[in-house]
Amino acid sequence: MFIDTHVHLQEKALRVDVDKVIARAREAGVELMVCVGYDYASSVEAVALADRYKDIYATVGVHPHDASTLTPQLLESLYELARKPRVVAIGEIGLDYYRDLSLRDEQRRAFIEQIKMAHELGKPVVIHDRDAHQEVLDIVRQEKAGKNGGIMHCYSGHLPLAIDFMKEDFYISFAGPLTFKNSKKSHEVAARIPLDRVLIETDCPYLTPEPHRGKRNEPALVTLVGAKLAEIRNKPVEEIAYLTSRNARQVYRIKD
Ligand code: NI
Repeated sequence: MFIDTHVHLQEKALRVDVDKVIARAREAGVELMVCVGYDYASSVEAVALADRYKDIYATVGVHPHDASTLTPQLLESLYELARKPRVVAIGEIGLDYYRDLSLRDEQRRAFIEQIKMAHELGKPVVIHDRDAHQEVLDIVRQEKAGKNGGIMHCYSGHLPLAIDFMKEDFYISFAGPLTFKNSKKSHEVAARIPLDRVLIETDCPYLTPEPHRGKRNEPALVTLVGAKLAEIRNKPVEEIAYLTSRNARQVYRIKD
């Protein structure tokens, strides 16, 4: 059984037939999905989905793209939402210097404020890092972001950086790009990283794995990410499924 550690079932593309999407995930052997918020509305919807389906958990957070929306009032509302029982982490939070949709100062401020929220609530963090590797690492170290565990979501960096994040008690999560032929760097990281630190995810509806690129992504396809990791590590896919699910339960502290 697989755990998809990062889905956006609240996105319109998936919400339209979410019952079918979830049924297909179950059929494919996906036992749990973590629905990740990226702004206030999507965090509310993630919690609602987690309340409705026993195999969905939620995270609450504001993505760096929307960092400028994080007013003190919104932060207060996020705190309240994050205290709900099925919320397993704060995220996705971080820095995105590729699209720069919020000012970098505001991205850093929102990132740090939400790390502090995670600390106060005793929850792990889910981090989005695009073209901001060194600054994300600096903030993670300075704020001890991994104090309650953390996930580098859709990891795209080099192995030495992955090692630096693992030293800060982070897990490294691979998504659909692991299945792409040109993802040499990710293949190298996936080949060498300790298996007790690896997670798999779809980030659906985005980043559809091969051979379905160009189509909508959904949690059932996390099995393809798991199969690719199994191929890279030369291990049975059942073992990869077992290990990545165990890791996911550990970092998100899911007991059932
Ligand atoms: Ni995401």
